[in-house]
Amino acid sequence: MVEVPEHLLKRSQDRRKDLGATTGDEPAADVPPSETAAAPAVAQTQAPEAAAAPSLPDLPDLEPEPEPQPEPVKPWVHAAMTRKKIPVWAVPVLIFLPFWAIIFAGTLESPERDTEIIALGREVYDGSGGCAGCHGAEGGGGIGPALVDGEVLAAFNDWRNHVIWVVNGSPPAGQVYNDQGEISTAGMPSNGDKLSAREILAVVYFERVELGGAAEADLHDLEELFEAEGVVPNQFDIGQTFPSTLNGLMASAGIAAG
Ligand code: HEC
Repeated sequence: MVEVPEHLLKRSQDRRKDLGATTGDEPAADVPPSETAAAPAVAQTQAPEAAAAPSLPDLPDLEPEPEPQPEPVKPWVHAAMTRKKIPVWAVPVLIFLPFWAIIFAGTLESPERDTEIIALGREVYDGSGGCAGCHGAEGGGGIGPALVDGEVLAAFNDWRNHVIWVVNGSPPAGQVYNDQGEISTAGMPSNGDKLSAREILAVVYFERVELGGAAEADLHDLEELFEAEGVVPNQFDIGQTFPSTLNGLMASAGIAAG
């Protein structure tokens, strides 16, 4: 039997106390060291004879750490376990979702609903007319003023003046050019000789309805003129500055001016 040196024994006892060993362990410290200290640690893994034999001095240190207490539930974990599964903020979102789906489905259809006048107008605005280059792809403005959010409607209350504007382009710099009394920078080119009359009607319709936000119903006469057979000339003459020419065209097509 190997004697456990006194100082090691003491150390092991202190360590046990530090670890808050249960009362069951305490009496062991009073009993002669070799049997008690070695036995409990080794007994489970080795045969009884073997257990007594080595009685390694340091074995008490290998004793299992005290059972970890179950962690107290953290407040946030508790909150996660007890809260309602659908957060309050999500409820209106979920309620709105079906409506959004319907609205979204509606917007998917709109390209098919595109009338000929809007389709041509968009083509002119983005392409042949080059309007997007100065007024922005979405009409938000650039070198030229923004046309969205009713701005183009305020600039020309009457679509006929809008048509005449696009035909002629800017007057000399410094002149008032629109219904808001804004001053020309002479930055807008004329289009009467570059675009057909129908293309100009279409791009005006497109700018007012698609960009400006006008109701299609307000531009019924413009659309009828666009669709009238054999009434609209190939091109509008540059220099025309009064809506009377357009009124004359509508009269001959039997369209009541709006
Ligand atoms: C080279 C740039 C340029 C191009 C291209 C251009 N515009 Fe403009 N546009 C302007 C400028 C600049 C003004 C403001 C008037 C000025 O300062 O001369 C303007 C003004 C306007 C206005 C009046 C807006 C307001 O708020 O006063 C309309 C409508 C308009 N343009 C339509 C068109 C259409 C339609 C096209 C294409 C067929 C077009 N523009 C092409 C530069 C351009």
